[in-house]
Amino acid sequence: MCEGILLRIFLAFLYLYANVAGTLWLDPPRAVVRHGDSLSVNCSTNVTNLMLDWEKPQGHSKKIDDEKVTWTVDHLTEWGTKPFCYMTHTDYRQEKIEFNIIIYKTPERVSLATVGHSGPVIEGGQYELQCDIQSVAPVEFLTVSWFKGDTLVDTKTFNDTTKTPVNQSPTLQISPSRADDGAQYKCKAELNLGPDGPQPPPSVTSDPLTITVYYGPNVSCLSHVTLKEGEIFTPNCSAVGNPPPEMTWYKNEERVDFPKQMDRTNAGEYILTVISSSTVVNHSLQIEVMYPPVSILELQNKLVDFGYDDSLECSSDARPHPQYRWKYDPMPNVRTEDGDGVSLLFIDYPTGINTGTYTCTASNELGEISRSVSVDVKDSQNRVTIETVGHTGPMIEDRKYVLRCNIQCVTPVHQVKVSWYKGNEQVKNASADDTRTSDSNTWSHNLTVSHNRNKKETQYKCKAEVMKTRGGPLIYVGESELNITVHYKPVINETKLPSVVPVFRGYPETLVCEADGYPLPTISWSYKPNTKVEEGHLTIVEATNENVGQYTCTASNSVETTVRTVKVTMKEDYLPLIAGFVALVVVIISVVFIIIYSIYYKNTKMGRYSVEGAKPNAQNGNVAQNGKDSSIPMKKLSQNSICA
Ligand SMILES: *[C@@H]1O[C@H](CO)[C@@H](O)[C@H](O)[C@H]1NC(C)=O
Ligand SMILES: *[C@@H]1O[C@H](CO)[C@@H](O)[C@H](O)[C@H]1NC(C)=O
Ligand SMILES: *[C@@H]1O[C@H](CO)[C@@H](O)[C@H](O)[C@H]1NC(C)=O
Repeated sequence: MCEGILLRIFLAFLYLYANVAGTLWLDPPRAVVRHGDSLSVNCSTNVTNLMLDWEKPQGHSKKIDDEKVTWTVDHLTEWGTKPFCYMTHTDYRQEKIEFNIIIYKTPERVSLATVGHSGPVIEGGQYELQCDIQSVAPVEFLTVSWFKGDTLVDTKTFNDTTKTPVNQSPTLQISPSRADDGAQYKCKAELNLGPDGPQPPPSVTSDPLTITVYYGPNVSCLSHVTLKEGEIFTPNCSAVGNPPPEMTWYKNEERVDFPKQMDRTNAGEYILTVISSSTVVNHSLQIEVMYPPVSILELQNKLVDFGYDDSLECSSDARPHPQYRWKYDPMPNVRTEDGDGVSLLFIDYPTGINTGTYTCTASNELGEISRSVSVDVKDSQNRVTIETVGHTGPMIEDRKYVLRCNIQCVTPVHQVKVSWYKGNEQVKNASADDTRTSDSNTWSHNLTVSHNRNKKETQYKCKAEVMKTRGGPLIYVGESELNITVHYKPVINETKLPSVVPVFRGYPETLVCEADGYPLPTISWSYKPNTKVEEGHLTIVEATNENVGQYTCTASNSVETTVRTVKVTMKEDYLPLIAGFVALVVVIISVVFIIIYSIYYKNTKMGRYSVEGAKPNAQNGNVAQNGKDSSIPMKKLSQNSICA
């Protein structure tokens, strides 16, 4: 192995010596010749020889002298020829030297084309450019260079050692981008024949191949737009592509032109169709047109059935969807709920309180609108009534009566609650569910009442509420009022009408019979002559013995008859006696005084007088001053009678 390498190195040196420093040499030592060109080579030696000549494929050799022979060829056409010069030494030893000759041929034609494709290329696609090189030799010196514009993009060489002309079709893979649109590709076939070859190296370049790159269309556009009604709108959309794209808008497959004044009917999906070459791109644009609510739909006056759940619906067309507000008097059984574009007001178990006005307002940022409707609850009257149990007619003092509150409801309900009021005061709360009557829709509850004369008129109220489900709100059903006027028996005022009434002879006297009772009692007297009766008062016009006796006042009303008996007694009237007595005393005193005076006068002028017959009645004077125990009330009675 090692020996083999050494032997080769030795042989190589020997060969060099033979060429350079040997006895044979060539001028020029080697040649690069275009096929068909002429060539002339001198083979020289400096030793005497028997023969010196060329072994050559064509042309002719011409001996210049014994030491030089020239090989000349006018048109070198023999491919792959290996001429050599040889010499026969005088000792018959032969020596030869080969002439290294490269015959080349530039390509007849270099052309560039796309493989299996014509026309524009599509961006991102894989394509092959093929460089057709016709008839080039020797191919081992061929370099194919690929250019895009002036930029070298690839080169290719060949290992083929064929000396004769060949065709080559190297290819270049390209994947064009949009920037490559209009680029010029070229391929250049160049023979690099070394320093002995022609400079610059001969080459043939193809005609440029201009590629057209189709790309896109790429659409740049929003997919959602919100506008106000009335706005003039042009979509801000663009499309990039080659060939320049055409943009067309469609809505519901009908062509639409922008700019366009938008109203609510124009809202919806618009399709932008972009066509570039045979590529079609569709883009969807949702256009939302905002407008205020202009009307309230679905909401109408309503007559609802008592106890049957019902609802009002309010909706309005607007964009964005409106918000709903309800306005009504607060009620425990009303609730609202917003759905998809509508608002519902639920009346759970409608009763009388739900009768009224309900207003729904729909609003969005562009405006608002309201509508009011009235709700009437059918048959909500007389759902609650009060009756008196087992009794008709007026109620009498101190007796017990039963009031019954009847409530008519719609089943099912969880509980019926009754509240009793006396005047403004709540007197009883109860759940009426346990007193439900056989009539399955009527509940009742009793209240025992009694009254006295201190309060003639009493107002009772029964208020009913239902709880539809356990723990639910109490819903007002209704209420009923009952006014009670208590009837009570007459009671005669005994202060005004004492049991004994003394009268003075000859004087008037009035017996006052006043009776408290309801209904107002009628007063009647059993009376004696010489009296008159006026508004229940009996007047003795002038008391005589006939008036002495029993008087009966009868006060009667529908409840009872009350009787009061009065005893009238006679009393003498001492007043005239006293008056007469006083007058007598005055006369006597006057007489006594005159007598005393005249005696004194006579004594001083004519003599003395003595007084006689003037005797004061001391007993009578005492009676007049003090009287008896009964005389004072007698006087008072008289005075009262006079005053009355
Ligand atoms: C060959 O030799 C002849 C005669 O000496 C000379 O004229 C000619 O130029 C030479 N040719 C070459 C290629 O050197
Ligand atoms: C009845 O109930 C209410 C509340 O439920 C309460 O305020 C009231 O005092 C009650 N009245 C009676 C008389 O129990
Ligand atoms: C009876 O009459 C007297 C005197 O007028 C009065 O003060 C009293 O209140 C009356 N009694 C009744 C029960 O009306």
